[in-house]
Amino acid sequence: MRHLLSAADLSRREALSILDMAEEMHEVQRRPIKKLPALRGRTIINMFFEDSTRTRTSFEIAGKWMSADTINVSAKGSSVSKGESLRDTMLTLDSMGVDCFVIRHGSSGAVAQAANWVKASVVNAGDGQHEHPTQALLDAYAMRQHFRQARVREGFEGKRIAIVGDLLHSRVVRSNVLLQRTLGGQVTLVAPPTLLPTGVEQWGVAVSHDLDAVLPRADIVMMLRVQRERMSGGFFPTAREYSAGYGLTAERLGLLKPEAAIMHPGPMNRGVEISSEAADAANSRVLDQVSAGVAVRMSVLYHLLGGEGGAR
Ligand code: CP
Repeated sequence: MRHLLSAADLSRREALSILDMAEEMHEVQRRPIKKLPALRGRTIINMFFEDSTRTRTSFEIAGKWMSADTINVSAKGSSVSKGESLRDTMLTLDSMGVDCFVIRHGSSGAVAQAANWVKASVVNAGDGQHEHPTQALLDAYAMRQHFRQARVREGFEGKRIAIVGDLLHSRVVRSNVLLQRTLGGQVTLVAPPTLLPTGVEQWGVAVSHDLDAVLPRADIVMMLRVQRERMSGGFFPTAREYSAGYGLTAERLGLLKPEAAIMHPGPMNRGVEISSEAADAANSRVLDQVSAGVAVRMSVLYHLLGGEGGAR
């Protein structure tokens, strides 16, 4: 593996290898001294041109726990704010001998473009409305943990995964659909017609506008954030009406199978797409997803840079 730009880059063998190694990495999280020598001597730059709490922090922790030198760069405080182009910024930093760039960018396709300019490995940490492959991997990891804890068959094949909400603006949904195509989960997308991506009928997944009909059959219910910052028009009348049609309200919890898991990649809009009762329910896996994020990103960085690996 040279880069991780899309969930579609991963073969089934590679995806499972990342998930399996993440289980070993998760052990490190539980140790008093959280340090492995695995990436000693490697340099990773986290470049976040868009806001992030979970992804930026977990990539930084992942790099540090594996003894890599990690540096954070954001648009504010770098020469990007003086008008330097993304290409010149990437070429400049690449010339310093960096081994890996972890990039979040507001424009779809910008991370793949950056990968064409540099010798280092590149990880897509979320590009516009396009993809967020490490989120899909950590979601899969948290699903597998849940299946194990709920004592249901562990594999993804045939598992019913409902992904609900603002799918139009979501990079998380695209990466999850691509990864589950590889792993075998049966994805159903649920959204109002105004929040479905163009061309979704070619994605090879079921589509529904009826959340109440989908919930009783789902093994996993993944609620996605209403991305108001990416909305310019009236996609739904009011937040209250959105919640009534497509929110995981306290009343709807009764529709779920007892062994079903509730997930949300965060950040959550409590009271809009997910109620506090659902976010904090016993079968909510939201914080397990966050915890998995560090282990999965350690595993991804190791797959790219560990051993004799690395693009340079
Ligand atoms: N899920 C996710 O990408 O969250 P952040 O924007 O906080 O990184």
